[in-house]
Amino acid sequence: MKEKNATALSRREFVRRTGALAAVCALPGASSAESAPGAPTLDPAKLQRFVDPLPRPEIARPAGVRRDPRNPAEELPYYRMVMGEFEARVHRDLEPTRMWGFNGLSPGPVIEARSGKGVLVEWANELPQRHLFTIDHNLMGAERDKPDVRSVVHLHGAKAPPESDGYPESWFVAGKSSLCHYPNRQDACMLWYHDHAMGINRLNIYAGLLGLYMVRDQFEDALGLPHGEHEVPLVLCDRRFTVDGQLSYDVSPVPSAPWIPEFYGNATLVNGKLFPYLEVEPTLYRFRVLNGSNAQFFNLSLSTGQPIAQIGTDQGLLSAPAPAKIVSLAPGERADLAIDFSGAGGQELTLKIGAVEEILQFRVARSGAHIGNLPGRLPEKLRPVVPLAESAAVRTRLLTLNEYKSPKGESMTMLLGGAHWDMPVSETPELDTVEIWSLINLTEDVHPIHLHLVRMQILDRRSFDKLHYFVNGELRFIGPPMPPDPGEAGWKDTVRAHPQMVTRIIARFEGYAGRYVWHCHILEHEDNEMMRPFEVLPRGRA
Ligand code: C2O
Ligand code: CU
Ligand code: CU
Repeated sequence: MKEKNATALSRREFVRRTGALAAVCALPGASSAESAPGAPTLDPAKLQRFVDPLPRPEIARPAGVRRDPRNPAEELPYYRMVMGEFEARVHRDLEPTRMWGFNGLSPGPVIEARSGKGVLVEWANELPQRHLFTIDHNLMGAERDKPDVRSVVHLHGAKAPPESDGYPESWFVAGKSSLCHYPNRQDACMLWYHDHAMGINRLNIYAGLLGLYMVRDQFEDALGLPHGEHEVPLVLCDRRFTVDGQLSYDVSPVPSAPWIPEFYGNATLVNGKLFPYLEVEPTLYRFRVLNGSNAQFFNLSLSTGQPIAQIGTDQGLLSAPAPAKIVSLAPGERADLAIDFSGAGGQELTLKIGAVEEILQFRVARSGAHIGNLPGRLPEKLRPVVPLAESAAVRTRLLTLNEYKSPKGESMTMLLGGAHWDMPVSETPELDTVEIWSLINLTEDVHPIHLHLVRMQILDRRSFDKLHYFVNGELRFIGPPMPPDPGEAGWKDTVRAHPQMVTRIIARFEGYAGRYVWHCHILEHEDNEMMRPFEVLPRGRA
């Protein structure tokens, strides 16, 4: 038995090192939480493709207006978003899937907000007693004395006051709720809300606790980008199903330590459907894409090889459209894309997430009813992105990304700056100051690093001598600084830190003083302490 585990683990190590992602699913001894005997894994290649229409996420409707008890001056639109369990059909030929979501939907309803106009959202927990997946009680914050089912909602990318940010330890149980105030004092962009409960975040999001949140503003409206029918949100989530249509999530071969270092599915939900199709007119469309997966990276492309124009990133519009054949998206990242179907009247093409895997079909009509009124072209200039000057930074922090094996080698911890979650706060920027964070990636993996509260820019990425760093604790660069990709050259809130490179980001810590978090957005890493608090100090206190 011991030997068998050792083999499995060394294969896991191999998989991690070589990046042979698909092999993870085939680990000997790996089993899934929900697949009881008789419910083997579904092979998505056996499903008939493109038989379900792509659902358009529903728009949330306010339940009224209310005053924020912490700031009773203004009346704000008030939304009530209820987390619960329900069944949904992810494919015509599959049994309904038990999942979690908001107001009976996963992804949940889209909250539409205007820049500068606040909203109140009451996040209510009405989840059932039992979790859908196996909890690992060894993880920080998920110990046995914590309830299995608990949640707290974070609005990813929001400049929100700390008490509304969804601190991972501020979870609440069924029957409770939390009222959050989002002032929306930020540029137009697509945010997303999702669970953030300490130690079980990967399981709660995997169960379906996520949804979109749009911030819109006049500047963007004036650009005349495709809108209404011609603006389509796409929430991409990789999942694995049993043949009877139920979600399955892996556990490690060590029963006492079920956590796995990354989950990779074999099927991709697009707005909650497998292999949907979308009927489009032969004109320009805008797609607002979120990678809501736990660990999967997507390389988006069109089957025709036609370029996609990226017009925005996590935190809003780029300064100009950036054409690309492939758009990469790490977990947590968003891309605002424009696709021109005007040359494809009467054709069918597909959106791919890798070399071969097709996830969504576009059926282009021969002609469209109201094409005459539509902007057929993108503006040449979008929104100026003023670079944050390095000289504006009051300090540079060197922060390592590292992974550690437990002495017995059966599990791994990923840490930021070498510190555990519960160690004293070490990143304490002063409100309204600019800082550079140098992310020194000592691992073999790409880690998408996300900071709450702030938007940032990527300065550069640069290879360094890892061995020299381990021996002398000093950075010796072995390559030139590389600028961000054109599709990353805007405002970001989640940045890919490449292996054996130093990725430098620059941000102004504006908005609010208080306690926030930063973390890797590979949810398995985040749940195993690749997450740290940071605290914005009021002016004059740093
Ligand atoms: Cu997508 Cu800490 O969040
Ligand atoms: Cu966030
Ligand atoms: Cu990571």
